[in-house]
Amino acid sequence: MAAIQNIVILTGAGISAESGIDTFRGAGGLWENHRVEDVATPEAFARDPDLVLRFYDMRRAAIQTREPNAAHAALARLDREWRGNLLIVTQNVDDLHERGGARRVLHMHGEHLNAWCTACDARSRWTGPLIDRPPCPVCGTPALRPDIVWFGEMPYRMEEIYDALRAADLFVSIGTSGAVYPAAGFVRNARDLGAATLELNLERSQGSGWFDESRLGPATELVPAWVGELLG
Ligand code: APR
Repeated sequence: MAAIQNIVILTGAGISAESGIDTFRGAGGLWENHRVEDVATPEAFARDPDLVLRFYDMRRAAIQTREPNAAHAALARLDREWRGNLLIVTQNVDDLHERGGARRVLHMHGEHLNAWCTACDARSRWTGPLIDRPPCPVCGTPALRPDIVWFGEMPYRMEEIYDALRAADLFVSIGTSGAVYPAAGFVRNARDLGAATLELNLERSQGSGWFDESRLGPATELVPAWVGELLG
């Protein structure tokens, strides 16, 4: 493999699965128990705000009882030791990458532990419930919503992500089904721009065919092994 300098890593729910956080589309996955349209769209929030707020209050509380796993720790080690550019683009809205020690993390779908004020647009760190319509810490208006990118909304910091993909020598996808765009298309952007591509996943994802290499297995085994290889 040519000299690697710049790495972009995309993570999905599969990297947090072994920490006990449900994925979306696996057996027993989140979207098996809830219809996306009922909880994860702006229309759902307009139609039944209490249902949506209760759903995200439950998820926000649940992630705070979970711990990062060996895959998160391995990416944090890579973040600490890698001398080149590294960006961990995560679709996940938990904070396990950060609690695992990673720093160069970009949450393209938002974060459970932020609240977004629909009155003043401020985002504030938030660990408690929103169902009781607490006042925005910045403007005082009781107009907070989950800081989650819902279906039909634009993911965050896409320009920054595409810049990183343009510069990438290596693109690695970890624990994602490749079911949701634009993230599912990043592998093609990267390979069209000359990056090597690697998938680490429990099973073949929808985009497997686009990767130079796919390694199948649990993230807590595959990710530490891959980081160990890379850091020699
Ligand atoms: N190790 C590695 N991969 C795993 C593990 C594991 N222990 N457990 C599950 N996986 C894999 C599954 O095989 C699957 O391919 O993780 C992937 C999880 O896929 P999804 O549940 O679809 O989650 P994700 O790809 O992150 O979903 C993308 O969809 O609903 C939206 O916004 C939501 O960010 C989410 C996006």
